[in-house]
Amino acid sequence: MRAGVTLAVVVWVLLGAMPMGLAAPGKGNPAAGQKLYLESCQNCHGPSGKGDSEMAAYLTPAPANLTSKATQEKTDAQLRKVIQEGRPGTAMTGYAAAFDEEKLDDIIAYIRSLKP
Ligand code: HEC
Repeated sequence: MRAGVTLAVVVWVLLGAMPMGLAAPGKGNPAAGQKLYLESCQNCHGPSGKGDSEMAAYLTPAPANLTSKATQEKTDAQLRKVIQEGRPGTAMTGYAAAFDEEKLDDIIAYIRSLKP
């Protein structure tokens, strides 16, 4: 009986730990990130991240095309910094107050999943 319980716990722990292990090194959840993106970012960056929103026509500089090589070549740390602090002199404001570390990971995972 006790062995059965121990085995159940071991299996449970292994199964629980596996998705996290597989998700490494990008620890964010792109599906959760997409939800945040659609709520907070698509107004400017467009529904698929290409910077092709209606707002774009009114903004100088225009919102970045997040699928571009220029953005995708940046490190996660660089993207995180822009999202947290914004970019002075542009419409890109900082989201440090809105997103905790986990949400930032999710959004960055979503940005990484965007295709040109
Ligand atoms: C009000 C419009 C607006 C909103 C909303 C907005 N952005 Fe931006 N974003 C911009 C502009 C403008 C830039 C600067 C483009 C430039 O520097 O040429 C920018 C730049 C960026 C960059 C830097 C890209 C690069 O290659 O340097 C990232 C990453 C980014 N935004 C992500 C986000 C995310 C994630 C959200 C939602 C949480 C968001 N933005 C919401 C307008 C916006």
